[in-house]
Amino acid sequence: MTDIRGKRILLGLSGGIAAYKAAELTRLLTLAGAEVRVVMTEAACRFITPVTMQALSGNPVHTDLWDASVPNNMAHIELSRGCDVVVVAPASADFLAKLALGLCDDLLSTLCLARECPLLLAPAMNLQMWGNPATQRNLKQLRGDGIAILGPASGDQACGEVGMGRMLEAEEILEEIEACFQPKLLGGKRVLITAGPTFEPIDTVRGIANISSGKMGYAVARAARDAGAAVTLVSGPTAFVAPRGLERIDVSSAQEMYDAVMARVAKADVFIGVAAVADYRPKEARGHKLKKGTGEITLQLQPNPDILGAVAAKRNAPFCVGFAAETENLDTYAEAKRRRKKVPLIAANLAQHAFGADDNQLVLFDDQGRHELPRAPKIALARALIAHIARLLPKK
Ligand code: C5P
Repeated sequence: MTDIRGKRILLGLSGGIAAYKAAELTRLLTLAGAEVRVVMTEAACRFITPVTMQALSGNPVHTDLWDASVPNNMAHIELSRGCDVVVVAPASADFLAKLALGLCDDLLSTLCLARECPLLLAPAMNLQMWGNPATQRNLKQLRGDGIAILGPASGDQACGEVGMGRMLEAEEILEEIEACFQPKLLGGKRVLITAGPTFEPIDTVRGIANISSGKMGYAVARAARDAGAAVTLVSGPTAFVAPRGLERIDVSSAQEMYDAVMARVAKADVFIGVAAVADYRPKEARGHKLKKGTGEITLQLQPNPDILGAVAAKRNAPFCVGFAAETENLDTYAEAKRRRKKVPLIAANLAQHAFGADDNQLVLFDDQGRHELPRAPKIALARALIAHIARLLPKK
């Protein structure tokens, strides 16, 4: 992952039991090639030691506004000037309140006020503290001040209660940090995406599926969201958790996927069909489990609707993008598909490279010709595809 390679990230910890997740976050950030500087409040040091954070970040940890080892004795200016983003995780209720008021009586709050870069806060607190009108008032103020609030999530809490206020997991915060560095190429656009396989029932326990994992579709959905689009993801059965901050509609069969897409397409500016939709379904799905017999049985199949084709044929169709997974003759088949389905852009890949893998290789076909996107992680290819779509979109 190269999204944050070389970025200078200032990670602040205020006091909360979720501080242990900040240790994992530091590890993920440094593994991704970011330069991490850690600042901890006094309360944070009660939950996790600066030694841990120093070992994981590879840099000295700062806790003191009056740190005499900083050459000009202005640690808050020194630290905040040299970074691309400030992330506070965990951000306690007290810390949110301080920032909402512009108070700055310790190093972390002072550098947040003195910073020139974006600020992301990952709140972590008990559910009653989260729901308290004072906290909600402070959050409204902070959002109004242009500060991004990441989460929180709902679930089991360290105090034994269950509800809203759990800090996001380190992986999720990492994704949000990566997102904040993405140009907002699709800001204000609504993007409808299909992903994953479909499942065509034979009887109540069996069906026809395919080996699409949904990884590419989910990466495209994430890249579109990170580019500022409002994303709806219509997903066949996959093992993935949907990227945060988008609408996910779960479907199973191609017909359900078709219905879900058609019900939403009128509002979309862009439609991207990444799903590996089954071309055929059993003519008759039995309402009970078929019993084993001794002889052969015949399964009669009938064609499924072509979702991409139907969307592209609509009056006022959104900008349509198709995927083509081929095992041979990639260029010929992909370009033929583009013309047959009357879509402006097809992203083609070799099925033997694409299905289930983390990396892929794409060739884009549009009116201008062929554009190769060399082998890279699926999220990097998805970001390149979104950038290509943004360039082709009609300018209003
Ligand atoms: O029709 P074919 O499978 O060759 O084309 C693949 C492209 O068409 C993909 O974008 C896929 O999502 C879409 N498709 C569809 N509905 C189908 C079959 C494919 O939307 N029934």
